[in-house]
This record gives sequence, C-alpha cells and structure tokens, in this order.
Amino acid sequence: MRYGYFDDEQHEYIISQPDTPLPWINYMGCEEYFGIISNTAGGYSFYKDARLRRLTRYRYNNAPLDSGGRYIYLRDDEVSPPQFWSPTWQPTRTGLDEYGCRHGMGYTIIQSTHTDIRAKVRYFIPLGENLEIWELLLSNQREEPANLSIFTMVEFCLWDAMDDATNFQRNYSVGEVEVVDEIIYHKTEYRERRDHFAYLACSEKLAGFDTDREAFLGAYRGADTPAAVERGSLSNSLTHGWQPIGAQHVRVHLNAGEQRTIIFLLGYHENPADEKFDPPDTQTINKRAVLPTIYKYQNPSEVEAAFEKLQAYWQGLLDTLQVHTPDIHTNRMVNTWNVYQLMATFNFSRSASYFESGIGRGMGFRDSNQDLLGFMHLMPERARNRILDLASTQLPTGGAYHQYQPLTKRGNNEVGSGFNDDPLWLVLSVAAYIQETGDWSVLDEAVPYDNLPGSEDSLYGHLQRSMQYTLDRLGPHGLPLIGRADWNDCLNLNCFSDTPGQSFQTTTNKDGKVAESVFIAGLFIKAAMDMVQIARRRDGEQAAEVFTQASKQMEKAVWDAGWDGAWFRRAYDDFGEPVGSQECLEGQIFIEPQGMCIMAGLGIKDGRARQALDSVAEKLATPHGIMLHQPGYTRYYLHLGEISSYPPGYKENGSVFCHTNPWIMIAEAMLGNGSAAHDYYLRINPSKREEISEVHRCEPYVYAQMIAGREAPTYGEAKNSWLTGTAAWNYLAITQWILGIRPEFDGLRLDPCIPTEWEGFSVERSFRGCRLHIDVLNPQHVSRGVMRVEVDGIGIEGNLVKLDKQGGEYQVLVWMGK
Ligand code: GLC
Ligand code: GLC
Repeated sequence: MRYGYFDDEQHEYIISQPDTPLPWINYMGCEEYFGIISNTAGGYSFYKDARLRRLTRYRYNNAPLDSGGRYIYLRDDEVSPPQFWSPTWQPTRTGLDEYGCRHGMGYTIIQSTHTDIRAKVRYFIPLGENLEIWELLLSNQREEPANLSIFTMVEFCLWDAMDDATNFQRNYSVGEVEVVDEIIYHKTEYRERRDHFAYLACSEKLAGFDTDREAFLGAYRGADTPAAVERGSLSNSLTHGWQPIGAQHVRVHLNAGEQRTIIFLLGYHENPADEKFDPPDTQTINKRAVLPTIYKYQNPSEVEAAFEKLQAYWQGLLDTLQVHTPDIHTNRMVNTWNVYQLMATFNFSRSASYFESGIGRGMGFRDSNQDLLGFMHLMPERARNRILDLASTQLPTGGAYHQYQPLTKRGNNEVGSGFNDDPLWLVLSVAAYIQETGDWSVLDEAVPYDNLPGSEDSLYGHLQRSMQYTLDRLGPHGLPLIGRADWNDCLNLNCFSDTPGQSFQTTTNKDGKVAESVFIAGLFIKAAMDMVQIARRRDGEQAAEVFTQASKQMEKAVWDAGWDGAWFRRAYDDFGEPVGSQECLEGQIFIEPQGMCIMAGLGIKDGRARQALDSVAEKLATPHGIMLHQPGYTRYYLHLGEISSYPPGYKENGSVFCHTNPWIMIAEAMLGNGSAAHDYYLRINPSKREEISEVHRCEPYVYAQMIAGREAPTYGEAKNSWLTGTAAWNYLAITQWILGIRPEFDGLRLDPCIPTEWEGFSVERSFRGCRLHIDVLNPQHVSRGVMRVEVDGIGIEGNLVKLDKQGGEYQVLVWMGK
C-alpha cells in the first residue's frame, strides 16, 4: 500500500493522506538555520546546533505523534457554531476534502481544501538567511464571499533544548517577549548573556497576537482546540515566564473566486554584544539590523525570487551526477533522493531527525568520515573542511575521539576514544577526496592533534598515525584489538556490564588485550590499499612497500584465525573464543567481515570470497535485505554486550542494518555478479519498497538505519530513517560499483557490473572541472567487462579515462562485452 507517489520531474514526493504510519519528514536549510518539517507541519527549527540553539519546541515521544510545529488555523467567521481547521491537518486533525504534501529539495508545500476554502502553505528557508518563510496562498472557491480568520502558533524553545525539557524551576520564570509594530520577538535570556532572539512577523496587518501559551490555548487545552481560535480573537497577551509562544491573528475577506497570499516569517537574529539594546541604556532589543530583512521577505516577489534561487541551487547540486538506467528506482534514488539524504547526513550526522532528538550525539568520527564518501563530488570544498575538522580531533596516539561537538569542533570527553576502527575511516575519506578532486595538496595541510596549538602535523602524518594505531594494538592472533567496539557499536567485548543504565561502550571492565576484530583487520587492509597508492605517488615505492608489507601480514592473520571454513569470522571475545563461527550457539555468521574483507580484496582470486558471499545469500539474505547476523541472540550475554540487549531481529541484534548491505553489493560487483548486486540494492531501496509502505512504515524516499529482521515480530518494518551511513554507502555501491563510474587517483574508471538483461545506461557526471557524457552499451548482455572505450570518438587503452582538457566536455562511449 502507498501513501503517496513520486514526482520525479519536480524532485518531489507527494504524500496524499495526512495520517502516514509515522510522520514523514523533510529538512529545510542548507547553511546555518535549519528545520525539520513533517507532512503535517510538525517539527522544529534551530540555528546551527539542534541542542544549544533550538528555536521552537517539539515533544518527542508524545501522543498524538508529532506534537509541536508550524501551526496554522483557519476559521470561518460567518458560521455558528464556529468552525475552524488546520490546513496542514495537524494540530486540529479535522477531516479535509483534499490534502497533499509535497516534500521537495529544501522545501515543503502542504495543500488542502475544506468547505471550498483552499490553502497552500509553502515552507522554506531562503539561501543566505536565518529565517523561514511560511507562505500561505488562500483561495475562496465558494460562490459567495468568505470572511476568514487566520491564526498561527509556534511555541518557542528556551534555546537549550535539553534544559528546556528538564529545568522547569528556572525556566517557568525566565521567559520574555517583546511585541513592537506587530512583530513578536522572543528574547528569553537576552537580558543577560545571549545576544540572539527569535521573531515572528507577518506581511499583513494583525487583528491581534498572543505570546502566552495559556492565554492562547485556555487552561488544560491542547493545540487541537485553542480557546482563542474557537472564540475568534486573541488577547494581546504578553508572557512573563511560563511558556512563550508566538500567535498571530489576521482577518481576511475573500470574494468568490478571490485569492490572497499572506507571508509569515519565523527568524533568528544575533546582534553584536555592544549593540544589543536600542536605546543603549534600555532593555529593548535593537532591531535596526534585522528589520530590513523582515521587510524584504514580507514582499511576495522577494519570496518567489528566493524560492527560485533555492530550486536552482538544488538543481545545480543534483546535476553533478545524473544517471539514466532501465530501472526507475535506481534513477530516482541516484538522481534525487539519495543525494538529498547525503546532504542531510553531512549536515546533521546523527543529531536531529524524528528518531534523533537533537540533544544526544555530536558528530561521530566514523560516521562523518563515511558520510563524506558519497558527498565529495557535491561540495568538495565543504568536504575538505570537514576532513580537516575531523582530523583536528584525532589524538596524538592516532586514536580518535568517537564524537565531536559541531559548535566547538572539540572532541567529546564523555564518550572519549578507544573505538579501534575509528581512525581508519579517516584514510578512506581522505583517499576518496583525492580521487574525486585530484587535490593532493590536502595531504600537506597542517592539522593539530586534539585541537592543540603547536601539535600540527601534515594530514598525511595523521593518516600514518591512523595506520600505526592499529599496528600498535594487535591481539593474540595478530588481529586488531577491538577496544570499546568497532563499526558495530554494540559488540562490546570488553564491557561485561551487569548494572542497569551503564554505558555499554564506555564502561570497560576488561583490560582489552584479548578481544580482536576481524572486521578491523579487513578495514585495515582496505585502508592500506589506499595508503600504498598515496605513498607511492607521494614518496615513492619504498614508502608504499611499508603498507604493502603491513597489509600482507594482516591478511595472513585473517586467513590463519579469521576464516571459519565457509565465511569470515567476526571477532574473538575476551576468552579468546570466536564470535561469528559455526562453533557458536548463536551469532554464527555476521555480515560485516564478509563485506569488509572482500572489499579489501581478500579471497577474490582463490574462491573463498565467493564462498563467503554464498553463505551470506544462504544464511543472511531476506526479501527485506541482508541481516546483520544469524541466529540473533535470544538472551543477554555478558561477554558480548549491547548487541544481545535487543530482542532478536532489532537493531544490532540481527536486523537488516542497512548500512552494511551495500558492502555486500560492492563485494558481489567486485566478483562480477551484477544481477546479485543490483538485486540486493533493490531489496532495501526505499522507492522499491514504497509499495509495501504499510509494512515498511518509514518514508519511501530515504533509507532507514534498520529494517526489522526475520526473527522480529514486525519483520520488514523500518526504523530510524534519514540519518544513517546507509545513504553514503548505497550511493557508492550503485554509482561506483554497479554502474561502475569510479573516481581513482589517476582518473575516472569505467567498470560497470550490471544485471545482464540491461541493454546499457547513460551517465552525466562532473569530474575535476570537466563534464562527461557517458553512454554504456551492453550488446552481449554481460554482467561485467569492458571491450572498448572511446573518448570524443577516439579509442583509449583500458577503461580509465584521464582528463587532459582543463574543463570542458567529454563524450564517452563504453562497450561492455568479452
Ligand atoms: C549507528 C552508529 C554508527 C555505528 C552503527 C552500528 O548507526 O551511528 O557509528 O557504526 O550504529 O553500530
Ligand atoms: C546505541 C545504538 C547504536 C548506536 C550506539 C551509539 O548502542 O543501538 O545503534 O550505534 O548507541 O552510541
């Protein structure tokens, strides 16, 4: 069952009923001001940091779902008893005669009709501004005139979302507002150390306002039945403490067939510390700097121009890489939605979504490095800066803080370090950056350790320490020690936690000298492949040889102790016993080492990679994707940790943890099996799963972190949509390995591995300042193999396109075949 449909031309998903299984959200904002918005106008806004600069309040885990948002009420002032409704369905949830929500690139449009009054609300954030626009187009489709009231309501958050949700003894007394010239200013704590405030403004004359929540709602009422809306007038309340809100009232008279545009603005502004007040010796906000911006966007033609600019901006980003394949789900995800999700993961890491409260985690070291893998071609400059920010939090040991705070860019001490896979991901992201851009100068950037001035080393030096970190921490089998956890945060082999509420990751009860990770071994070998190439080009063969040798030794350790007979083992626990082996009672086979070791090239020549992938197909693959491990753990194992805390089939205990599935797609592609790779790709492809939305339940336009596995009672149900490494890895799997358009250090490799039935496909891609038009033909219906490549009509040797023009266009023809 579907709850909407894709409009591929417009890059939109259109939701056609408001009560989707879960709120289906979108993001607004590209720079510093951001918002989450659901298909019924729920969500919240923040400036830079979802925890520390939250503008509006949102109630996670509330009933009804999705409480708090950008609320608009319409009221028919003629009828009695009074009738009012929300044109975005929430919060009144009144039945609508027509409803549609279009989530597009950085904007959301919700349109509805009720008693022949049509409303279309367009929400977006103009580029370069710290404000959001709610543009309401109201049309009277009745045969007679209509007298309507429009009410808006947002509840302000007292900035620090965590404090706002907990510290009531203080917060009920600090709230302050100012209302001047019909603009509502929220200025809690502006009197003391804050230099910022929020505002709510309107393009029309107001009939009234409220800033006190209870004055608006009435005692013991909710946003679905505000007393003021029922009554038809606001009371111009000024709040003193309690819950500051912004509510506006506009009256409109519309003749039959008439329509009107009304603009509401919600914004954020910072004043210089010594220019906060006007006049200077008062407590009144200095509005000189903000008013011109407010006046500008009260003008509909400015709003239209800003919207067009936003659309052009996104079109430009999407154009970077466009594909035309025989499969609509591939095209749709690659050309629009996967890219859009990449931007969200780049901006928000794992911080703010419907499932991430915005007050939890900072930016993860491993997460952000992986998010970058698919992002390089979109905004190389921003990718470069992010890499340098991440590297600056690396520790002198080569280890890394597991997370850092985006506002301060400092490593997070609470979580600390000791996740032994972390530093290796930096090698992968730096390599991918150079492969995309050809910018070798990044390696010579001076980057500190732990942000300490004076500790600067070249970025290349950081990569060397990342590698050395692993080599300095080998266990009894010569495999890397796992530390607190590797990629799987919940495989905690050194924790042995027996106390409720303890952190599984940071409470370490073992000295950590025994438990080893085969996954990190694979990741190390993969990183070493990049280091060999980088070192060779930078410092010559001898420098490269160091990594070749280290890699060989690691490979030997994997074959000696990490191979279980038909698949790669996962780890060794603190007792030196294997995890992910036939010998185990539960958790006999894990997906991660199969994906990572094969991506690192292990077993490809001797058939063991094929054997491992056959085991994956037999034991882990389901129609809903590939599960993390099998069988799931049916009870809590002290020596395994959080992984066994989840009921089987959920999260890290054997769900389809989508992040890992593209590793298997890539592995299948490396072995030349395009049909299997693409089949796995489709199993978790959100667009493909759209037709089972009642099972999947999350948005059909973005990947979710997990889909419940076969052992779960809700098998096939997705959770934790949007902020997941799945976005980057799937993008890599489909564009670089299945379609095979893969940046390498010396050019663009064309090495497709596709379903045999495909006749071919075409790609347009920007690469290092050039534009390539690539046509791939598959007349013999092979899965993999390139017979001939022509660049601008001239055959080249091999399938690596080196660009000799400075900019400009290339026509590339690729014949697949034997
Ligand atoms: C979460 C974490 C990520 C980890 C994964 C598996 O997505 O953000 O860092 O690799 O879970 O545990
Ligand atoms: C929890 C989650 C896991 C996540 C981890 C991050 O363990 O289950 O997915 O990676 O927290 O700390």
